[in-house]
Amino acid sequence: MKFNDMINTIQLGDCYELIKTIPDKSIDLILTDPPYEFHCGSAHNSGIFKNRVVKPGQDIIDLKINNGIDYSILTEFVRILKHINIFIWCNKAQIQNYLNFFCKENISFEILTWHKSNPTPLTKNCYLPDTEYCLYFREKGNVLLNDGYDLKSKYWITSTNKDDKEQYLHPTIKPLEIVRKEILHTTQPNDIVLDCFCGSGTTCVAAKETGRKFIGMEINEKYYRIAVDRLNGINANGQTSIFTDFDSFK
Ligand SMILES: C[S@@+](CC[C@H](N)C(=O)[O-])C[C@H]1O[C@@H](n2cnc3c(N)ncnc32)[C@H](O)[C@@H]1O
Repeated sequence: MKFNDMINTIQLGDCYELIKTIPDKSIDLILTDPPYEFHCGSAHNSGIFKNRVVKPGQDIIDLKINNGIDYSILTEFVRILKHINIFIWCNKAQIQNYLNFFCKENISFEILTWHKSNPTPLTKNCYLPDTEYCLYFREKGNVLLNDGYDLKSKYWITSTNKDDKEQYLHPTIKPLEIVRKEILHTTQPNDIVLDCFCGSGTTCVAAKETGRKFIGMEINEKYYRIAVDRLNGINANGQTSIFTDFDSFK
């Protein structure tokens, strides 16, 4: 498929293959939420709740989003971005790898956090699982941040987005409002935003709502369909959002 035909669409497929078809220096922002990395038996991801070891949920294991990523895709990210401008959601086990790859003299970075006010109560011999990380890397001088006091915070506190999970059925759906702010802070109208692990389409919806273009990629057909419907204002229960403007997208 030609690059122009991918704009404002979600592609069903493996992003490690699909990304090879994206031209060099064609993307303004990558905002993505790749599979997290869980090391069996480590304190990164399990805890004890009521004397029982709690591991990543079966839904996460079934979706195969517990084994991290092939870091070679980061080289592709650099190739397709006009300038380094990238948000990557990740868990604690991945932070070091991403920092090692991106932190160079000309790159500034932030460790943004989403704090959940109602985390799963795993308390024995571990901290609560109440924090998710979103790393942001930006090429100094070439990517400017937009003004707006409400875009500048490095942390957000919300309850877990139970309503979105019920509507779009994705076990690791991210809060739309946070993603919207990230896009508004770091791009201009009509810029192209890529999410190659797009799940239920949160990044694509946020890009559409903020007047940016988007490309989504998703390997799982169920979530691909949910994301496409979501962009048309239809949730996974087949209900139409009264807030949708019904603008068609390709
Ligand atoms: C952490 S979830 C993203 C959730 C998303 N941020 C949301 O709000 O719904 C990661 C997604 O990447 C998808 N995925 C995993 N490997 C992939 C691959 N090789 N190509 C494309 N998508 C992939 C999974 O199916 C999963 O839906």
